[in-house]
Amino acid sequence: MSAAVYVVSIDPQASTVWWANRISDLPFDFSQEHETPENLKILKDTGAKVHVIANQKGGVGKTTTTLNLAAVVADSMKNSDQLQHVFIDTPGSLQDENLLMEALKYAHDVIVPLPPEGLAFDPTARTIQQIIEPTGLPYHVLINNWDPRDGKADLKETREYVQAQGWPLLESVIRRYKVHTRASVEGRVVTQYDENRPAYKAREDFYRLAIELGYGGGK
Ligand SMILES: Nc1ncnc2c1ncn2[C@@H]1O[C@H](COP(=O)(O)OP(=O)(O)OP(=O)(O)O)[C@@H](O)[C@H]1O
Ligand SMILES: [Mg+2]
Repeated sequence: MSAAVYVVSIDPQASTVWWANRISDLPFDFSQEHETPENLKILKDTGAKVHVIANQKGGVGKTTTTLNLAAVVADSMKNSDQLQHVFIDTPGSLQDENLLMEALKYAHDVIVPLPPEGLAFDPTARTIQQIIEPTGLPYHVLINNWDPRDGKADLKETREYVQAQGWPLLESVIRRYKVHTRASVEGRVVTQYDENRPAYKAREDFYRLAIELGYGGGK
């Protein structure tokens, strides 16, 4: 297990903890803090970079992104014994806005997963315009759950929408693979997937994302 990466969930629905509990050999430290968000304060003194994964629209891939990005960064920093990256998974609802605001106090940057579906656009715009942009934190939109079999029209439309809003968009896209959906049930993160072609591609997306974000540094 890498000491360089730590994952925190502040989602009261706690699918992250359900997931994390199923993973016998988590490649990072994990804790659930929705009842004790004041514990996040200690992150300030660790010197680690704190990344908040946020979108108040439910089911856009916050937990999937948090755990798998953390896993690839942990993999690339296996030999580091100092905490360097903290990933915070946040609630997908408007009710728990105070928890999200608390996490943003300690953040260095924010990742906003967005599926290539028009229905997700307006709720995502709300989170960005009313919650993230007022903090002045750097943030990036990450297109997640694009199914290459559907062709590129939805992807293109989503990219154009994000660009028209003037939001910083990551070039990396997380494609939709059944293996990600199954992984939460099986209790696995992307670095633990089987060696087959879809799993390889699924893993590649997260490594590419980590490189684009500059997390991990390959050591
Ligand atoms: N790239 C992907 N490929 C396949 N399945 C995905 C992908 N991203 C997310 N999913 C699936 O979509 C569902 C929702 O994803 P996830 O739980 O990560 O979203 P969330 O934003 O954390 O949701 P919530 O707001 O409820 O916390 C899950 O079943 C997950 O396995
Ligand atoms: Mg979640």
